[in-house]
Amino acid sequence: MNVLITGGAGFIGSHLVDHHLHLGHRVHAIDDLSTGFGTNLSEALKSPNFKFDQQDIVTWTGLEKAVQWADVIFHMAAVVGVKRVLEDSLKVIKTNLTGTERVLEAAANLKWKPRIILASSSEVYGFNTKPSFSEKDDLVLRSDDHFRWCYTATKLMDEFLAQAYVMERDLSVTSVRLFNTIGPRQAGTYGMVVPNFVRQAAGNRSITVFGDGTQTRSFCDIRDMVHILTLLAENEKTKGKILNAGNDQEISILDLAKLVKKISKSSSDITFIDYAEAYGRPFKDVDHRRPDLTELNKWITFEPKWTLEETLEDLAALEEKKQQLRMPA
Ligand SMILES: NC(=O)c1ccc[n+]([C@@H]2O[C@H](COP(=O)([O-])OP(=O)(O)OC[C@H]3O[C@@H](n4cnc5c(N)ncnc54)[C@H](O)[C@@H]3O)[C@@H](O)[C@H]2O)c1
Repeated sequence: MNVLITGGAGFIGSHLVDHHLHLGHRVHAIDDLSTGFGTNLSEALKSPNFKFDQQDIVTWTGLEKAVQWADVIFHMAAVVGVKRVLEDSLKVIKTNLTGTERVLEAAANLKWKPRIILASSSEVYGFNTKPSFSEKDDLVLRSDDHFRWCYTATKLMDEFLAQAYVMERDLSVTSVRLFNTIGPRQAGTYGMVVPNFVRQAAGNRSITVFGDGTQTRSFCDIRDMVHILTLLAENEKTKGKILNAGNDQEISILDLAKLVKKISKSSSDITFIDYAEAYGRPFKDVDHRRPDLTELNKWITFEPKWTLEETLEDLAALEEKKQQLRMPA
């Protein structure tokens, strides 16, 4: 099987690359390395079944050919992370909209159309106050702090694009609303909470909680997420569907900080900073974000294999090794 992965040098994309090479598939990854890293592909690059192109999906003229080659496409390329969304909005809009449209249009023009998994986001639920979000729930984007929603709006528009291509051009796309996913290779640079906490705890530096820490999130291990996305790609019956994906165990960010500290055996203190200080502008975070997975479970048979504690233990061990390597002898 031929698998094309856009954003293939990123956090989720590179794990998809490794998984599909492991399954014996031929894999082609495209990434402009704007937030992804070539080092995420160091194992993959040893495989004769792997090809990488450092290219921008918005402008690359080879995209049509790459899409034509593929049986399955995981479209993961996007500009992500709260900081980049606030600081580089034009790039967010162009990449997340034009990039997606180019992939879908290239696929729609083919006689034998590939199966496509499109990465949407739990961000689309916005300020919905229900304890967990199902696909039928309202999407609540507030008018204050208007620009904060530009990433969210692109992801929502991607879902509409996918639906339109399914209805009008018979494409086989499934839009997946990914909830917080964590694991090795996730960069903390753009405001991702777990990599930041783990790095701070390993260095015995203050663990900085944004806001008061009562906001909750549900974290899914990357290995579980790769499994979910792969099962969905295999299931043609999910064509045209929009589905949540993640883990529904919930934890407050303050409890997460405490758990990371404990697992890392760290002497860090836990401090609180305002969102305005963290992002350099006022910012209102959503209180909670927990997936209702009822609909997903109608389509795939899946049980998460990794608990939050196990994922954090792995990440803490990896970070300790990294910090030891960086220390002068
Ligand atoms: N990680 C999460 O918890 C999460 C949650 C919700 C949705 N998602 C979605 O999953 C996908 C993957 O996210 P991730 O966490 O791996 O982020 P990531 O930043 O690690 O991966 C995105 C990749 O896309 C690449 N990219 C960006 N613009 C590009 C362009 N114009 N051309 C080619 N490549 C480009 C980046 O270099 C990066 O490698 C994204 O679409 C994101 O919106 C992720």
